[in-house]
Amino acid sequence: MNNQNTINDIRSKIDIVDLISEYVPLTKKGQYYWGVCPFHNDKNPSMSVDPKRQTYNCWSCHNSGNVFNFIEQIENIDFKEALKFLGERVGITVNNFISATEKKYSKYYDIYDITAKFYQLMLNTESGKNAREYLKKRNIDADTIKEFSIGLALDEKNKLSKYLKEKKYDINTISELGLVNGENDTFINRIMFPLEDRNGRIVGFSGRIYTDTKLSKYMNTKETPIFRKGSCLYHYYASREYVRQEKYAIVMEGFMDVIRASTIGIKNTVALMGTALTEEQISLLKKLSLNIYLCLDGDNPGLDAMLHNGELLEKAGLNVKIIMLKDDDDPDTFILKYGKEKFLSLIESALNYSDFRIERLRNGVDFSSDIELSNYVNNVLKETSEIKDEIRREIILKKLATETNLSYNTLEKKLNEYKKSSNSQNIIANFAIKKDVKYNKYMRASLEFIYYMLINPKVIKVYDNKKIYFINSELRNLAGEISYYYHNYGDIVIADFYTYLNDKKELLVVFEEILKLELDEEISDITIEDYVNAISEYNVRQEIIRLEEIMRKETDELEKAKVAEQIRLLRIGGKKS
Ligand code: CTP
Ligand code: MN
Repeated sequence: MNNQNTINDIRSKIDIVDLISEYVPLTKKGQYYWGVCPFHNDKNPSMSVDPKRQTYNCWSCHNSGNVFNFIEQIENIDFKEALKFLGERVGITVNNFISATEKKYSKYYDIYDITAKFYQLMLNTESGKNAREYLKKRNIDADTIKEFSIGLALDEKNKLSKYLKEKKYDINTISELGLVNGENDTFINRIMFPLEDRNGRIVGFSGRIYTDTKLSKYMNTKETPIFRKGSCLYHYYASREYVRQEKYAIVMEGFMDVIRASTIGIKNTVALMGTALTEEQISLLKKLSLNIYLCLDGDNPGLDAMLHNGELLEKAGLNVKIIMLKDDDDPDTFILKYGKEKFLSLIESALNYSDFRIERLRNGVDFSSDIELSNYVNNVLKETSEIKDEIRREIILKKLATETNLSYNTLEKKLNEYKKSSNSQNIIANFAIKKDVKYNKYMRASLEFIYYMLINPKVIKVYDNKKIYFINSELRNLAGEISYYYHNYGDIVIADFYTYLNDKKELLVVFEEILKLELDEEISDITIEDYVNAISEYNVRQEIIRLEEIMRKETDELEKAKVAEQIRLLRIGGKKS
């Protein structure tokens, strides 16, 4: 049996509702089963399981997929392991499963493996003495060298390429992997750190200078079919068991930070390797743990990076805490200077991300300047108005009152204003708040109309022909997207449309709300007409209100009469339809 058949066979023998029920209690509601999502700190049941499509989908953190995706994430295993795991369940043995990609690249993995071992050997040769000295000076002992498979590229032009050629690997492949450049080795006279992919296979190297030279400090393997720096987190694979124990992962900046932390027994760590946090890295982190501690450098760029990365991570549904180091320290130098206990207590006192944001706002504010002070207060209140926890809001207000000498009541009043304005501007908040409230007739008609656009092309045609206009821009845009999608892709498969909306977050929220309506699959022409009338009546009413306002302000009697006539016509038209 070939691979694809095996995969399909296993998938079709497992019912996704049964499988997920073993991890999360599910309740049937409408066509879906619903449960509390295990992939973020879910409070409502946000995860739906679709027995018809055999897929699951969290409406809140957007984790979704089929049985394999679910098992990969919940058991924290890779696809191959998930296949084996589910295979056993249905009595299909999956032995020596090699994916097509793996088959293609297995030679690459071999070469990197051999190279890593070669570099490790070189570190222990006579010529490796200076490098060993350097590592010793940085307090990296033999165990740590072994743990991180640290090696050495000697100060010779083609030591590695000669060795690999002897092993009968052809020069083109070695060059494709970024290990040689023309005839010469790429890495010369550098301490070598192997980089691993999410499955713990070596997919590249980073080499650090250790002598006095103007060359750049670190040099990385170029991008290859199996390595992209942005999709890599240093120490990811090895950290998994420690993260599982500690229930959180610490994200650091560089290799040396992770390596240093390991020397004091802190191994639930990964490093970004100096890149901006990418989507791929976020989804890797999500698989690692829901609780992420950021511990980047203590200088301003480091703090800014934590501010930015923290926001990205929180948006992805993760709980973020911030470990703040002093001034110019990174975890490596901090641990060297102050030791294990101090670092542990820093972890202990890590800030909630939102508190950290507020802390950052205070940075550099001159409290004796009225303008700076009032800007600061307003910014803090704006931030605070987004915090849902009432107690945390109160704590912040109290602190703010003390530090600024302003009265608690004034601050609270102003906070409430921000809360209100962010609610009315923000359709996301609006929809969330209205969840259990009855929509007015117009809103109800609009949402239901769009619901039917999603499941019945007849309604899309009505939308196109009658040029239906929704007052809310989100509804208007969503309806437009549905019509566009239908005309371009033919059918609307909800799961695919979901992906299509991925980068239109504000529409996604409305879309989710609409999908939650539990309506009959069938719709009569009369109901459609009712919706259309309700929507246009409302539009007319709004237009009349607008015109009345104009009339009230108009001083010119002639103009006034013109507007009055417009209103009269609208009133008649509105009644007729
Ligand atoms: N980095 C890189 N290329 C560079 C500089 C940095 O790829 N020219 C990456 C490395 O992954 C490094 C990380 O960015 O680990 C953080 O950089 P930096 O803080 O400068 O390095 P440290 O980890 O502090 O390394 P060291 O202590 O050895 O100087
Ligand atoms: Mn450093």
